[in-house]
Amino acid sequence: MEKITAVRGFKDILPGETEKWRFVENKAREIFADFGIREIKIPILEKTELFARGIGETTDIVEKEMYTFRDRGNEYLTLRPEATASVIRAYIEHNMHLNEQLSRLFTIGPMFRRERPQKGRFRQVHQINVEFIGGNDPRIDAELMIMLVTFLSSVGLTNVRLEINSLGCPACRSSFRGTVIDFLRGKEECLCPDCRRRLDTNPLRIFDCKVESCQETISSAPVILDFICDTCRNHFENTKRYLTMFDISFSVNPRMVRGLDYYTQTAFEVITESLGAQNAVAGGGRYDGLVKDLGGEDIPGVGFAIGFERLVSMIPGDDDDFIDHPHIFIAALGEEATDYAFTLSNRFRLTGIRAEMDFTGKSLKSQMKRSNKVNARYTLIIGTKELEERQAPLRNMRTGEQQSLSLETIDGVIHEFTNLLSAETITAG
Ligand code: HAM
Repeated sequence: MEKITAVRGFKDILPGETEKWRFVENKAREIFADFGIREIKIPILEKTELFARGIGETTDIVEKEMYTFRDRGNEYLTLRPEATASVIRAYIEHNMHLNEQLSRLFTIGPMFRRERPQKGRFRQVHQINVEFIGGNDPRIDAELMIMLVTFLSSVGLTNVRLEINSLGCPACRSSFRGTVIDFLRGKEECLCPDCRRRLDTNPLRIFDCKVESCQETISSAPVILDFICDTCRNHFENTKRYLTMFDISFSVNPRMVRGLDYYTQTAFEVITESLGAQNAVAGGGRYDGLVKDLGGEDIPGVGFAIGFERLVSMIPGDDDDFIDHPHIFIAALGEEATDYAFTLSNRFRLTGIRAEMDFTGKSLKSQMKRSNKVNARYTLIIGTKELEERQAPLRNMRTGEQQSLSLETIDGVIHEFTNLLSAETITAG
């Protein structure tokens, strides 16, 4: 029979990798708790209109990357390409603004974008997404970025830099839009067909185009940072000031526009040199009009998302370092000893000790090999003789030292081994 493979761009995350994922997620949860950020779980499927309105009809995501289908009830639904629009929908739907002044929310899960798969780019991508909804104070923007940088360094990422920009408010943007159009008029032949179209629909998107001739043409265009109003400039200057107060290093990238249309004022990305073309590990910004655009009150917000796959691929250390290896491997020889090992290993597990054994009845040599492979801390060797004498050798797999463990009672074995482990922890500590 022919094999069925996974869908292109959709990746299995296997044991060996999942441990690194869990490490990242646990660290995120720890740091989010310190910052008072609470978890929200949102559906994977939403009405298509939410993203069309939220992200913007003329963005790449909405124009060509969404997984949209008509369900059996003839409703247009979309697998979420990002989380912000959904979080804001939930925020409005549950009147969360009545609960607290500033809602701090995070959500972790898969997003779906039908982009061309390549290194660091997938069609199912996992994101760690954080939103602070309810304030426009530049301290909130700074706090969010301080937390992001703290988190990334806590998981061992050093080779990254924070880039920031201000995209102004809708008023700044509409005058800047005219400036960009004026600049590009007469240069249409240097633009790709997509950007020629964007000139009428969404000229700021041209800054984001990867086509070389477009990049070249736009590189001498005016930048929005030179056109923002006093309020937006003040907001930007203060955000930078607060970042500096916390020694957060950043650079201003006046050409950053971000790929989603809801941004106002602060926009930022965390960039790395180690991922090739897909160089953004995280991206975010302020979206002061989004809650209103999605039918809520006039409430500002700011947030970011980290790409889980990209982040995990940059974390130093072998996958093996993140695995919880067994405390003990029980090598059993013969039916009676295997039975004993079965009881003992499960009793160990029920007391919180990670135990493994082998059911195959293989030779001692091959069981020792297995113990090495799973990186067990100790191996207990039990055969008929050991059961008779009620004494079994326990080998420390790191030092090679061997000692004898009394098999008088199962409770006794567990007690003695637990003491041994805690003595080790105390010595190591
Ligand atoms: P985004 O820049 O589209 O922003 O995505 C954030 C991060 O997700 C990217 O920096 C990247 O690491 C990762 N990512 C996105 N698409 C892919 C892909 N196809 N393959 C691999 N990784 C990918 C947002 O999604 C906004 N919702 C962020 C936000 C939250 N803004 C405000 N609040």
